[in-house]
Amino acid sequence: MLPKKNVMLGLVFAVVPLFQASSTVIAADAPAPASTPAATAAPAVASPAPAPITDPVKLRERGQILALSCSGCHGTDGKSASIIPSIYGKTTGYIESALLDFKSGARTSTVMGRHAKGYTAEEIHLIAEYFGNLSKKKN
Ligand code: HEC
Repeated sequence: MLPKKNVMLGLVFAVVPLFQASSTVIAADAPAPASTPAATAAPAVASPAPAPITDPVKLRERGQILALSCSGCHGTDGKSASIIPSIYGKTTGYIESALLDFKSGARTSTVMGRHAKGYTAEEIHLIAEYFGNLSKKKN
């Protein structure tokens, strides 16, 4: 006898096309279909996630690229010429915890909370390392 999990997966494959076909017909005035067990089960059979990057050079480059999104407000290299605080000169630890606090809402902000929510904790770490090392190098 087949394990229960395989039977369930088989059911998902059988139901999904039916569900999609019927929802296109009624889509015009019907509300969006609620998330079903079939919809949540689908990602389990999607292609596997790419292998995580571990090469330190590639990680540094990634941090640098992610950090480009900060310069529009905080200035090139984080040296601000405006009302926005400079990031340059601050330590990796300070920047990382500030971003995590903005992301979680523990620290109130006007724009940083929205911005920080777009990054994973790992990406925040890479960005913080980039700015932290930048100040160390140039001082
Ligand atoms: C849209 C403009 C904008 C962008 C883009 C932006 N910031 Fe900010 N940042 C601010 C503002 C404004 C503040 C002051 C807090 C607030 O009100 O949001 C701030 C505050 C901060 C602080 C706290 C500084 C301190 O002295 O405690 C850090 C750290 C910081 N930002 C890092 C970053 C990093 C890293 C990025 C890029 C990933 C970034 N910010 C992108 C506008 C921006």
